[in-house]
Amino acid sequence: MSNESRIHNAALRSKIMSADEAAALIKPGVNVGMSGFTGSGYPKEVPIALAKRVTEAHQRGEKYRIGVWTGASTAPALDGALAAANAVETRLPYQSDPDCRNRINSGEMEYLDIHLSHVAQFVWFGYLGKLDTAVVEVAGIREDGSLIPATSIGNNKTWLDLADKVILEVNSWQSLALEGIHDIYYGTRLPPERRHVPIMNTADRIGSHYLQCDPKKVVAVVETNAPDRNSAFNAPDEDSKKIAGHILEFFEHEVKKGRLPANLLPLQSGVGNIANAVMEGLNDGPFTNLTAYTEVLQDGMLKMIKSGKLDCASATAFSLSPDGLKELYDGLDDYHSKVILRPQEISNHPEVIRRLGVVSMNGMIEADIYGNVNSTHIMGTKIMNGIGGSGDFARNAYMSIFMTPSQAKGGAISCIVPMVSHTDHTEHDVQILVTEQGLADLRGLSPKQRAKAIIENCAHPNFKPVLYDYYKRALRDSPGKHTPHLMEEVFNWHLRYLKDGRM
Ligand code: COA
Repeated sequence: MSNESRIHNAALRSKIMSADEAAALIKPGVNVGMSGFTGSGYPKEVPIALAKRVTEAHQRGEKYRIGVWTGASTAPALDGALAAANAVETRLPYQSDPDCRNRINSGEMEYLDIHLSHVAQFVWFGYLGKLDTAVVEVAGIREDGSLIPATSIGNNKTWLDLADKVILEVNSWQSLALEGIHDIYYGTRLPPERRHVPIMNTADRIGSHYLQCDPKKVVAVVETNAPDRNSAFNAPDEDSKKIAGHILEFFEHEVKKGRLPANLLPLQSGVGNIANAVMEGLNDGPFTNLTAYTEVLQDGMLKMIKSGKLDCASATAFSLSPDGLKELYDGLDDYHSKVILRPQEISNHPEVIRRLGVVSMNGMIEADIYGNVNSTHIMGTKIMNGIGGSGDFARNAYMSIFMTPSQAKGGAISCIVPMVSHTDHTEHDVQILVTEQGLADLRGLSPKQRAKAIIENCAHPNFKPVLYDYYKRALRDSPGKHTPHLMEEVFNWHLRYLKDGRM
């Protein structure tokens, strides 16, 4: 199919131009809302053309930096290119790109790490400033001007609704067979008019298949043909398999206790290899008729749909390997009735997560002996990625699980520490901690009971004695016995790592 046949609206066809011409419409100092979520559905050419313009401007000694807002992480063609050109003044709400991370950690880029469900509302109320331009990738434009979304939705609806100007990238690499898989909810109202989001079951569809955009706002249409960043997943390693095993055993226990139904409750699974391994474990496990109300759909969930274990999955983006993508397209007839992509304010909506009773499973960097979790910072000051949707889910889930290997950097770091060097999820929002060593069920435990459960079940044997030593001395010497701590030494482990390379 030729590119042109994907732009069926005559008015928008007349706006076709090159990426360079479109990038020239983005002026220094503006905020730009771009599509893109975990390497899916991001614009492929305009950001690169913009990075080139910025580099040339900087070489002439001119100031040229913009605010870049997205759904979540993107790819080298967006975050990488713009960070390399030092084109970004402010970035939000999530990133995972090495160049972007370096700019943030070196202080050259401001970063707002925001709960993903909050972004749309923040923009509607103007907390983040004015949105000047939207740059959104779509799979096609229909005759009436409505847009066929691509492999992610993210914040695209919000960008198209609120930006003054819109640049559309129509990517003929994106399959038109995706048409109909999306569910764009246009019923959101702002407080005090806000009403309930009428999703009662994971599979409920409450919106339209298409994104709407006022054609008068469209200033450019750029035709592209470029793949998403579909990275392969590592085969699950021993630690990931053990973590998955502990979670499965726990689910079986909860079913026996009558605290979970036999087909569990809708699952949310975070990004990355461990999360994917848990899904693989579930695929080999005893549970059937599962559902997922989650943020991204990785290979593991696709396999579960294929094997018949997972009845349906709701997300805001695909995050598939090249093999996973092939599987999706080969089986799209079947997946159409079982997969729904929604805007991220709906995929991560606290009200829906609470109503459905989601079981959330997310990765973490470190947890402390009282159950506070750090998902975002290395040694307290350097950003890794961001909170993403982990807070949206953990705070509102029926059951919130955090997982990590017990050690990092070849055993130089304990992921269980006296006090986390940064807190994303407080002890009140963390119910279950899992490492390859075991699982600590923190529900119903006081801080001191939690400390014993976490050290005993989750810490690596290399660090268990020193954690116990810390805890016992804290219990003895801490002025307060509710959450005993030795305030003068809580961060000694992190400081030692920064100084000597070992905790
Ligand atoms: N201290 C310092 N570094 C640590 C660490 C610790 N306690 N634990 C892990 N790391 C390092 C690893 O060594 C690795 O570094 P490298 O990239 O230089 O090799 C890196 O952090 C990632 O660790 P890894 O074990 O590969 O974890 P992961 O891919 O499972 O990611 C998070 C873990 C926490 C970074 C990731 O889950 C995340 O970004 N979470 C926040 C967002 C989120 O939860 N999104 C899903 C919600 S829907």
